[in-house]
Amino acid sequence: MHNILITGSNGQLGNELRLVVGENDKINKYYFTDVDELDITNKKDVSEFIVANNIDIVVNCAAYTNVDKAEDDKERADLINHIGPKNLAEACRDKNGLLIHISTDYVFDGTKNTPYTETDETKPLGVYGETKLRGENAIINSGCDYVIIRTSWLYSSFGHNFLKTMQRLTAEKESLNVVFDQVGTPTYAGDLANVIYTIIQNNNNTDIRNQIYHFSNEGVCSWYDFAVAINEALGHNCNIKPCFSSEFPSKVTRPSFSVFNKTKIKSTLSIEIPYWKDSMLTCIENLNK
Ligand SMILES: NC(=O)c1ccc[n+]([C@@H]2O[C@H](COP(=O)([O-])OP(=O)(O)OC[C@H]3O[C@@H](n4cnc5c(N)ncnc54)[C@H](OP(=O)(O)O)[C@@H]3O)[C@@H](O)[C@H]2O)c1
Repeated sequence: MHNILITGSNGQLGNELRLVVGENDKINKYYFTDVDELDITNKKDVSEFIVANNIDIVVNCAAYTNVDKAEDDKERADLINHIGPKNLAEACRDKNGLLIHISTDYVFDGTKNTPYTETDETKPLGVYGETKLRGENAIINSGCDYVIIRTSWLYSSFGHNFLKTMQRLTAEKESLNVVFDQVGTPTYAGDLANVIYTIIQNNNNTDIRNQIYHFSNEGVCSWYDFAVAINEALGHNCNIKPCFSSEFPSKVTRPSFSVFNKTKIKSTLSIEIPYWKDSMLTCIENLNK
């Protein structure tokens, strides 16, 4: 039996994880917390919580995820994306526990044109990616046992995300411009939650530990293709037109190519990953429930 702490559990991934373990895990004890119950930037609170509840696995779903806002809020983004994971890692190390942490495709600059592997050179383009990379390195350097999963284009029936924005906009508008020069793969947070649950179930397998993994759904698309698919699946008649990122001026440059090579996670965990369109349909079904 494990005592498992989930941080940032009111977000997209945290909510999906709540569903997955609620349906499947009758053995382990879970502590679902968000910033009001446990602020991961507070080292003393983190350490005391982990000791008091005899936590031996932590899943860190907490993050500062607003990519644009992070550019003007560097200190806060660093506290949550770097210092928070460092606090969790040090507390896990002191308890001989395992930290499962989520990172991002934004650690890369997106200049490759073949799928990114875990060993490719990192080069973040903005504050969000920089702080997430510092978080990864702090965990690796802490000496704790860890699993870091980088994911991309996360969406869910919970929280704010591209799918839900498109659901609203394609209903409201006759036409919409969506960028086609950023290519990647959407990730349904429900699928990522299943992978995290698989890791929890196999946590004693030391081969899984102390590694970085890449995870998204299967396939490749642009944001434009994703929007067209959402519009079609919902039966909306919005006229979606492809446009360039330069038509949406932003403080931060986003990676133009974010496709992951997922060979490592698939072979280590012996999993098959759903195609992005199939998972999009699953999410839409769950939204309509
Ligand atoms: N969203 C994406 O497209 C995407 C893409 C690639 C990777 N990721 C990574 O995937 C992970 C999960 O993302 P998500 O989309 O589920 O995030 P999310 O929906 O933004 O949820 C993050 C949660 O963490 C909470 N939080 C913020 N500061 C905290 C603190 N100091 N202590 C405890 N909790 C705190 C947030 O609360 P507030 O809402 O009150 O701030 C929120 O409930 C993150 O590591 C993210 O970097 C996300």
